[in-house]
Amino acid sequence: LSSTELDLSQIAEGQVVTIKWRGKPVFVWNRAKDQIEKAKEVKLEELIDPLARNENLEPDAPATDANRAAKDKENWLVVVGVCTHLGCVPIANSGDFGGWLCPCHGSHYDGAGRIRRGPAPQNLDVPPYAFESDTKIKIG
Ligand code: FES
Repeated sequence: LSSTELDLSQIAEGQVVTIKWRGKPVFVWNRAKDQIEKAKEVKLEELIDPLARNENLEPDAPATDANRAAKDKENWLVVVGVCTHLGCVPIANSGDFGGWLCPCHGSHYDGAGRIRRGPAPQNLDVPPYAFESDTKIKIG
């Protein structure tokens, strides 16, 4: 199957769920307000990778929180759970920037899945996805 559907209605605020898409883990995070605010406060100049890496947007879209999160549903963040350094699976709700920490070589990703410290060169990829309803997304 090239696409995967997920029911979002059971994902509590603050919770991250991992699903499989094309053999890779994909993280779906229902971000809480404070987590969104923290990610929004980050200036583009502070980022290691200034690009959104969002397959739903143009390739040169900047890595603002809005360009990383779901369109018009900023609480939802959907990212491929593969560290852009050497491909380990980062751990959610850890690291120093409110997002993920990769256990392999210590890459820290923030609350929008953007690389902030460590050897990873790029933000976590945002896969192609669409909302089929308010509570259902289709990835791929
Ligand atoms: Fe994630 Fe190296 S694979 S930091």
